[in-house]
Amino acid sequence: MVDAPAPATSPARSGLPSQQIFQREWHLYRKVMDNNYLFHDEAYACLRHVLLNEISKPFSFLDVACGDARASLPALRGTAIAHYEGIDLSRAALDMAEQALLDLGCPFILNEGDFSELLPTRREPVDVVWIGLSLHHFLKPDKLRVMRAVRQFVGEDGLFLVYETASPDGEDRDAWLRRWETQRPFWTACDANEWAMIWQHVSTADFPETASTWHAMGREAGFDRVRELFVAPSDLFRLYAFE
Ligand SMILES: C[S@@+](CC[C@H](N)C(=O)[O-])C[C@H]1O[C@@H](n2cnc3c(N)ncnc32)[C@H](O)[C@@H]1O
Repeated sequence: MVDAPAPATSPARSGLPSQQIFQREWHLYRKVMDNNYLFHDEAYACLRHVLLNEISKPFSFLDVACGDARASLPALRGTAIAHYEGIDLSRAALDMAEQALLDLGCPFILNEGDFSELLPTRREPVDVVWIGLSLHHFLKPDKLRVMRAVRQFVGEDGLFLVYETASPDGEDRDAWLRRWETQRPFWTACDANEWAMIWQHVSTADFPETASTWHAMGREAGFDRVRELFVAPSDLFRLYAFE
């Protein structure tokens, strides 16, 4: 079950398996968030901590693959955010984000589109770029292409943060997937069909990188400093800051 072959091109670029679960099953993703199975609470608390403690002036924030913005919103409230921009492929998710963000208290815009196409052509600078659980649908060369693009428009004092699938050094994707499968007993709120849907998504569309590869990709993309700020208790996801 775990040995799904890796495709030659990133599935997110061909737009398919990585998207189906979010286009049709947003309620399932919500359930996953509500039960904190992917450790959103800790990851977004970490984002909030950085925004409150490391940024002293008003900042613009780009939420790449924002979804319904439900995870970002509590992390941003009460920070010095001056402008919010979200990008997502899913119109349905953006419609929910539009309602939620009215509460943020600063101007915002939402762009519907594929971030792997929008970011490389972007010129407008931004202070903080965040990607939560969406870059991992790409294989390494495409991840790097997105990271290089971000480096071009995040300013010298800017910050790029990602919370993504990651492995300890030395672990390959099959071993990471085998560890993913051991999470099943903890996902008690999901029935067999829901778990099957999640498993189908993860095993076809998720591509972790090792901790060393995340550091190396950051440097290759042109960032001087890479910090690992959080490792999920499952050790399936990690949060990195690139400066
Ligand atoms: C796992 S959710 C992440 C949502 C939120 N960032 C979080 O941390 O929970 C994935 C989101 O990424 C969006 N997405 C995936 N690939 C994308 C792409 N290439 N361009 C834009 N949005 C994408 C999906 O539509 C979905 O809303």
